[in-house]
Amino acid sequence: MNQFEGRVAVITGAASGLGREFANTAAGLGMKLVLGDVDAAALERATDELQAGGAEVLSMVVDVRKCAHVEELADAAMIRFHCVHLVFNNAGVGAGGLVWENSEADWEWVLGVNLWGVIHGVRVFTNMMLECARRDPGYEGHIVNTASMAGLLNPPAMGAYNVSKHAVVSLTESLYHDLRLVDAPIAASVLCPYFVPTDIDRSYRHRPHELEHEGAPTASQQAAQALLSKAVRSGKVSAADVSRITFEAIREGRFYIYSHPQALDGVAERMNAIVHGTQPADPYAATPQMTQMLKAGLTEQLFR
Ligand SMILES: NC(=O)c1ccc[n+]([C@@H]2O[C@H](COP(=O)([O-])OP(=O)(O)OC[C@H]3O[C@@H](n4cnc5c(N)ncnc54)[C@H](O)[C@@H]3O)[C@@H](O)[C@H]2O)c1
Repeated sequence: MNQFEGRVAVITGAASGLGREFANTAAGLGMKLVLGDVDAAALERATDELQAGGAEVLSMVVDVRKCAHVEELADAAMIRFHCVHLVFNNAGVGAGGLVWENSEADWEWVLGVNLWGVIHGVRVFTNMMLECARRDPGYEGHIVNTASMAGLLNPPAMGAYNVSKHAVVSLTESLYHDLRLVDAPIAASVLCPYFVPTDIDRSYRHRPHELEHEGAPTASQQAAQALLSKAVRSGKVSAADVSRITFEAIREGRFYIYSHPQALDGVAERMNAIVHGTQPADPYAATPQMTQMLKAGLTEQLFR
């Protein structure tokens, strides 16, 4: 996609972090904005700021775990703007800890937002975009799903998050192949950021009541939370950088989008282990201090 001005961008998780920066970049390119987020107050602030800068904005409080909410967002976009061109299925949450210590509620929340949110977005918006393409021979569309480097690696004490993000990579590759199969004028990309300073380490702020964490967090959950905060807060690539990199990839029609290409060494080692049938490679081989930090928080659980 090369033309942005006057076209319509839909962004979930638009009130903070990467989503907020996608909105800034899209507005700067003259796009009309459809913003969805579960955080009503932050969404209202983002909407006011973007409108004050001259952007045309439709925003709606949505919980992407719920298909009906995503459908309402899509319907409202069509009523207001008659078409959508660029869709960011971006809303996501983080939760860590040893994989056997994640509760059913942890899994339901993380998979609900990170995976089901993207499934709903792909199902609802792709059908809508195909309809737009049938009506307009010059139509161009692009769907960007936010996964993570944790969709290509499996770092320890992040099991539920890893599973959700691997599934998003798989879903987006499947979407890519299916769109090509029918020669649709719609491109797809998967964004795989490494640690970027946003509020992802405060994801618990939007955890729904019915899926609240039961009891105190375990040692592994505390260690994983501390590691996530440290890694995210000390990230050198900003959310604005990731947005710029993402829009470059959209222009160039690139599928895989990376914020930290140097982290791909770990992916190559993982793939080598898969192909050669060796034990899984250490995802933190290049940053052993990350493993040490986790282990330091788990002294009572180490079997040695
Ligand atoms: N920041 C990083 O280091 C990093 C790394 C890899 C991947 N990611 C991914 O980037 C995406 C954006 O996260 P971020 O880092 O900007 O975090 P963030 O917390 O700053 O922003 C996430 C936004 O999603 C919204 N959200 C949460 N649950 C929602 C729901 N159920 N429905 C609708 N909106 C919801 C939040 O309110 C928030 O505005 C996520 O998918 C995350 O997994 C982030």
